[in-house]
Amino acid sequence: MISQSTIAKVFETARVEEVIGDFVQLKKAGSNFKGLSPFSDERTPSFMVSPVKQIWKDFSSGKGGNAVTFLMEHEHFTYPEAIKYLAKKYNIEIEETEQTDEQKEQANARESLYLVNTFANEYFQKILHKTEKGQAIGLSYFKERGFTNETIKKFNLGYSLDEWQAFTDEALEKGYQLEFLEKTGLTIVKEDRKFDRFKGRVMFPIHSMSGRVLGFGGRILGNDKKAAKYLNSPESDIYHKSKILYGIYFAKQSIAKEDNCYLVEGYTDVIQLYQRGLKNVVASSGTALTPEQIRLVNRLTKNITVLFDGDAAGIRASIRGIDLILEQGMNVKVCTFPEGEDPDSFAKNNTLEELTLYLESNAKDFIQFKASLLVKEANNDPIKKAETIREIVNSIAKIPDQIKKEIYIQECSKIMDISEDVLFSTLAQIDKKTFQEANKNFKKEQKAFDVIRQKEQPRPKVDVQYELERKIIEILLLYGNTTEEFEDLVLKENEATGDLELEPVSHRAKVFEKVYLDLQEDEMQFTNEMFKNLYYTLIDTLHRDEDFSTRTFMNSLDQSLANEVTSILMDDEKYSLHKWDTKNIITKEKKHTIAQLVNQTILSLRCFLIDKKVEEYQSESQNGNADNKAILEDVKDYLGLKMLLSRKLGKVIGS
Ligand code: CTP
Ligand code: MN
Repeated sequence: MISQSTIAKVFETARVEEVIGDFVQLKKAGSNFKGLSPFSDERTPSFMVSPVKQIWKDFSSGKGGNAVTFLMEHEHFTYPEAIKYLAKKYNIEIEETEQTDEQKEQANARESLYLVNTFANEYFQKILHKTEKGQAIGLSYFKERGFTNETIKKFNLGYSLDEWQAFTDEALEKGYQLEFLEKTGLTIVKEDRKFDRFKGRVMFPIHSMSGRVLGFGGRILGNDKKAAKYLNSPESDIYHKSKILYGIYFAKQSIAKEDNCYLVEGYTDVIQLYQRGLKNVVASSGTALTPEQIRLVNRLTKNITVLFDGDAAGIRASIRGIDLILEQGMNVKVCTFPEGEDPDSFAKNNTLEELTLYLESNAKDFIQFKASLLVKEANNDPIKKAETIREIVNSIAKIPDQIKKEIYIQECSKIMDISEDVLFSTLAQIDKKTFQEANKNFKKEQKAFDVIRQKEQPRPKVDVQYELERKIIEILLLYGNTTEEFEDLVLKENEATGDLELEPVSHRAKVFEKVYLDLQEDEMQFTNEMFKNLYYTLIDTLHRDEDFSTRTFMNSLDQSLANEVTSILMDDEKYSLHKWDTKNIITKEKKHTIAQLVNQTILSLRCFLIDKKVEEYQSESQNGNADNKAILEDVKDYLGLKMLLSRKLGKVIGS
């Protein structure tokens, strides 16, 4: 574990504009930087970095955060990986918290396996490029397959000499221990003899999400029917075949950017598609997809397109694994290739334009694809047809989203010419609980449904309460710790006339104290859970910390809260994005009227809440099951209060 003090030091030292500057070309714009969003394709910059606030915001995708969250979003690092990256960039020594001896040993052993793989990766590449045999056998094989030098280098492809222990000898000579050569599977030890596992094969290193070499796949060159075409590294402490997807390191950025992931079967499919320019592609390496592998993709996108080789038997077999993808709530499309072609050959023989056009016009929604396939197979045989119903509903039952499930039932009912009722009752047999909910909601929502499917949902009206609660959070974030002169209007009895009048009284207070006391007076509660959470955390922090800064505050928050804070803080920047030159004026004006802003916001919220209360009372009295007289009294009280507040607000009540 990285120590807290190291993490704190990293946060103190890292400058968000420097960190992002390594990935995005930033231009100075007023007190901020702007650039093209790295998360979408755009021509006009909507990506903002604020050196003052030490945050960034991407207005095209809505993402935002600090230096660490940028690395997590952009590089898909985990939190510790991001901290380590920054520590390295800023030469901060990483202090690990105490590990037990056992933990240390384990970490060291794993590290040794990585080191051995790193060496092997370099060694196999050296053999491929720098030796005569490597060039004549390995390199010419890759060239024949159509891989360019650039591609070969990018994917770290290599060659293992056709000798019993050429690799093992060199590794031992360089000081790598046999124990780790054996554990990574690079060397096979039999009694006192040692063999290179990948003897005479071209090498495909398998990279982790963050680019470390976990293991290798090696392809035989000839057509030797006795030897396996591909050999892979055995399972080890660092290589788990079921948890990694080939190509994910090279594809991750593009998967996130395109918001789709192509899934193929083999190493060469990935490489060929990538070389063609389709970079969001990974391979399951010939085995059935596992939940862990799907989760890797799920971190990057909700959309997956499975590319099948062109033979029917293969398709039938692959289809079963796809239910697992549905189970994780992902949207699955499938695409087949013409008979005899696979993604590798198709990419090799077509231009990028042809390829993308083909994929666009041939990728089909998985459930619809499966339904059509089943209809064809059943071929009006009633017994087979009954089987196919169960099979398709099995897939639909896996989808977690209720609405999607219902859409698919309707779709499949059309495709397979089976009534929705039959499909629903099959779903019921498969999952009783699912059915009960489905049927209930189905009847109720069927109408609403059709509307939604035809048109886009209407934009929700501005939610006043939401906006005001958000504004209060913004005020606390920006000005919570500043002291202001507040002018409050208090009710005073005019001594001469006996009338109640509003009299201005001024007092100095910190903004957060003022907000807190005013809201407490009304026993006002936030309705938005996120804001409520932020509000109490903010008040608490401001209370305890004299040197409150949004920067340190943000680092103490979890991801979703930090993200919300960034959006709030960046709102004014969004405005200035279009009006850079007026930036200073806006800020100054804002500062000038902090006290007014605070008063206005709180009073607006109070007025709004009163209106809401009055409405509630009115509908209650219309229902007839309430004590009308008491309600009327309450409403009168509220209206009186509202009048007062409105006067405070400087407005005259409308009616
Ligand atoms: N595979 C494997 N062991 C085998 C055969 C296949 O591990 N004996 C894995 C490899 O990851 C391979 C994938 O399954 O990339 C797909 O197999 P296949 O379609 O036979 O290989 P291709 O990638 O098409 O290989 P090539 O084009 O080089 O023949
Ligand atoms: Mn192939």
